[in-house]
Amino acid sequence: MGGRATIAVFPGDGIGPEVTAEAVAVLETVAPRHGLALDFSVGTIGGAAIDAAGDPLPAAELERARRADAVLLGAVGGPKWDDPGARVRPEQALLGLRQGLGLYANLRPVWTVPELMAASPLRREVLDGVDLVVVRELTGGIYFGRPSERRTTPAGREAVDTLAYTEAEIARLLHAAFTLARQRRRKLTSVDKANILSSSRLWREIAHEIRRDYPDVAYEDVLVDAMAMHLIRRPRDFDVIATENLFGDILTDEASMLAGSMGMLPSASLAGAPAPGERCRGLYEPIHGSAPDIAGQDRANPLATILSAAMLCRYSLAGGGGGDRARGGDGGGGGRANGRPGGARRAGGWVPGDGGARARAAVDVPNLRKGCQSSRLNRGTSTSLRRSSTILSRSGSVCALGAVAGVKKPRGVLTRRTKSLSLSFPIVDLLASWSMRIRAELHKTSPDLQ
Ligand SMILES: NC(=O)c1ccc[n+]([C@@H]2O[C@H](COP(=O)([O-])OP(=O)(O)OC[C@H]3O[C@@H](n4cnc5c(N)ncnc54)[C@H](O)[C@@H]3O)[C@@H](O)[C@H]2O)c1
Repeated sequence: MGGRATIAVFPGDGIGPEVTAEAVAVLETVAPRHGLALDFSVGTIGGAAIDAAGDPLPAAELERARRADAVLLGAVGGPKWDDPGARVRPEQALLGLRQGLGLYANLRPVWTVPELMAASPLRREVLDGVDLVVVRELTGGIYFGRPSERRTTPAGREAVDTLAYTEAEIARLLHAAFTLARQRRRKLTSVDKANILSSSRLWREIAHEIRRDYPDVAYEDVLVDAMAMHLIRRPRDFDVIATENLFGDILTDEASMLAGSMGMLPSASLAGAPAPGERCRGLYEPIHGSAPDIAGQDRANPLATILSAAMLCRYSLAGGGGGDRARGGDGGGGGRANGRPGGARRAGGWVPGDGGARARAAVDVPNLRKGCQSSRLNRGTSTSLRRSSTILSRSGSVCALGAVAGVKKPRGVLTRRTKSLSLSFPIVDLLASWSMRIRAELHKTSPDLQ
């Protein structure tokens, strides 16, 4: 990869600073091994910025984001700023960044890992092999339409919101979704409410025009109410799901329950299509909120943010491609893809245009053992998870991360007897697999962990 890149980091409120610190530590460890110098430009947004400057997204912070190659964000908000009548609210920072950076395509990958299926309210046979991405339109629709207001009429109070989409907004989102589908299982489900809404009828019309450009991608239309049902009845059948802002907001939260927890799912918001070989400006954040109930207690699970950092590497630094490989499951070395034995592997990319170059490394066993033993993953507390990620990312380096991805847990302790090990993982898979495994281990002993 090589070169230099600037990452704007907005830790935000609550547990935001705790989880972003872990993700930054991982990036700091990984980047030099690929000849990349990362500059982290840390800013203040959300509730903290309201306290400091009276503005959740000061102009200088938006400028910081604009100047960066990518943005890593924790979460914003908390009870201190929750007054619904308040003129300024932390969430305005998120909307301002999305609009200001033109981040129109929100990617939320959801997959299941066998070790965590018990955490989902759904049955194992429904969950097995689920691997989908929701591509949600992020800067249009009812969240941005005008008028949006309350008014008083002779008949009483009334309120109005406006759901409006232009042809261009719909087309670019669908192109992004088709582009992603081509790097995955080549199946796209477009979700709308075309039987009722004019905006959805336009959506469907444009989708049918665009699908002609992607004859190799299987396409289907599904109404949003039916989709809510199919997502929990037959989630395995879906690959890429494209939909507008409001429907996507609701469906992604529903889909997150397939994975058993919101505390481990990443997201990317992109200003372009995730095309192979092309870097894309993006903002990366966990899908969970600021968790004020556990803030400052050293209990926050950083994995969703670490996985978001992995997506950042893929789409904004490495030049896209490889679908949504910031995920767990297959660690990259076996013959499984998408949770299915014998499936064709998608190309993984770290170096631009490398077509799936592998990071080869020898494991630094003393460092690994030190990291594993001192972090005491077997104790199964949320605190140990945070510590272990810090220790492994700082001392054990990427090699140790890869080794952990392959470690089995005898009696709950992560140890490795082999003196050295040669790994061949795409780097992003490696991070993802490592994260999932640790998360799975901890869930067994600490089921209350989100
Ligand atoms: N993108 C964002 O910044 C974002 C998203 C959602 C909510 N919020 C804000 O966050 C605040 C809290 O919202 P909420 O409670 O509805 O949702 P939340 O996601 O913050 O928390 C829900 C539950 O999950 C737990 N949790 C969340 N992330 C966790 C993690 N990484 N590790 C361990 N446990 C975790 C929390 O402790 C809580 O019990 C609100 O002010 C809300 O507006 C921000």
